[in-house]
Amino acid sequence: MPLPFLYETVVNGAPEWVPDWARDPWAITKVVGVVVFLYLIKIYSSGATNRAEQNMHGKVVMITGGTSGIGTAVVRDLAQRGAQVILLTRLPPSNPFLADQLGELREQTKNQMIYAEQVDLSSLHAIRKFATKWIDNAPPRRLDMLIFCANTLTPPGGERTETEEGIEEMWMVNYLANFHLLGILSPALRAQPIDRDVRIIIPTCSSYIASPDLADALSKKKWSPKKAYARSKLAMMVFGQAFQKHLDAYKRPDQLPMNARVVFADPGYTRTPGMRRWLTRGSILGLFLYVLGYFFPWLFLKSSEMGAQSILHAAMDSSLGRGAGGKFVKECIEVDFARMDVKNEDIAKKLWEASDKLIEKTEKEQAALRALEKKNQEMQEKEKKEAEQAEEIEALVDTIRKGKEAAEKKPSRRQRKKANADKGESTSA
Ligand SMILES: NC(=O)c1ccc[n+]([C@@H]2O[C@H](COP(=O)([O-])OP(=O)(O)OC[C@H]3O[C@@H](n4cnc5c(N)ncnc54)[C@H](OP(=O)(O)O)[C@@H]3O)[C@@H](O)[C@H]2O)c1
Repeated sequence: MPLPFLYETVVNGAPEWVPDWARDPWAITKVVGVVVFLYLIKIYSSGATNRAEQNMHGKVVMITGGTSGIGTAVVRDLAQRGAQVILLTRLPPSNPFLADQLGELREQTKNQMIYAEQVDLSSLHAIRKFATKWIDNAPPRRLDMLIFCANTLTPPGGERTETEEGIEEMWMVNYLANFHLLGILSPALRAQPIDRDVRIIIPTCSSYIASPDLADALSKKKWSPKKAYARSKLAMMVFGQAFQKHLDAYKRPDQLPMNARVVFADPGYTRTPGMRRWLTRGSILGLFLYVLGYFFPWLFLKSSEMGAQSILHAAMDSSLGRGAGGKFVKECIEVDFARMDVKNEDIAKKLWEASDKLIEKTEKEQAALRALEKKNQEMQEKEKKEAEQAEEIEALVDTIRKGKEAAEKKPSRRQRKKANADKGESTSA
């Protein structure tokens, strides 16, 4: 069909129904040029595809942020390859939406070993509760990979928010939560047998390049969503490098070298709920404009599946499982860090100490608050119990008193006999 049509068009010219503009070869060239140009942009902005393969059967992967965006795409891919995946989620696994999502993932990947554990990353207490339970498990649980995809951001123009424990939210979820979790899980990672290729994957974002120095604390006055986000990402990178050194310094009982490695991965700009919140400034009008102009995010941003590629490369590329840890992957190739301070040991030491201090202080305050709350609750319960007992006693006393009064009002047998006798006499008379 197309060949006879083309032949006819070339020999006899375009049929009558073809509009005038389409008869102009220059116009056609322009249209084709634009389509090819857009196609090339789309190909370029979609980024590189991961070619590294690994059999994930039997491997245990723990992931944060697996319920949305890039994280979900990573979970889907690794589960399809047979990994056991544990999602650390804000919601409890009994939540119907989460249960549905897990069911769907299990069905799509034909892998039943996808589980969720509730860990709210905005709470140091929740993290400690989960991680200590994991570490206390006997025999020690297998853990091959930890992937930190959870992320929060305040849209531009948004207000500074704090967690219930009083820590700036982006600092907490994007950095301190991971610091705390890794700190507690560190023995479990270091204790993995030597034949396991253990990886800690830290997704990052090029915003770290423009971050303010970590040495300057970000005061409430200087705070802005962009600065705070970038700073949380830079902190995670500095800490990631320091954590690799902490792992390397560990002397394994078998005297073999460390088999756990930190790998950083930049997914590139991706169309995820987080990115949408940033672009729309979290407003209804922004969302309306986003939907209206959806062609542009579609053209310039990656899909979640493409955003996941560098993380999957970091998870499976065999060369990253050899030699020194702390490498950085972008577009599925190893790249260098764009800031010198990522590898600065002095900055890392100060950050580590300050983070430890903040956690210690917050946990102490929170423990005191919880103890006070518990005491108040116990007091309230005691008062309630005492009030109930007092009520019961009062009711008992009341019943006894009423019984007595009734007994006093009731005529005695002698009185009743006399009354009956009086009644008999009066009737006989
Ligand atoms: N998107 C991009 O363009 C881009 C670019 C560069 C780097 N990255 C990096 O890629 C990673 C994933 O980004 P994304 O855009 O896919 O993220 P996203 O769509 O915003 O998803 C964030 C995830 O984090 C979870 N989360 C947030 N707060 C939490 C909390 N308090 N406790 C537990 N979980 C919490 C969310 O859980 P809920 O589902 O419960 O909300 C969600 O699963 C991030 O590290 C990000 O920095 C992304």
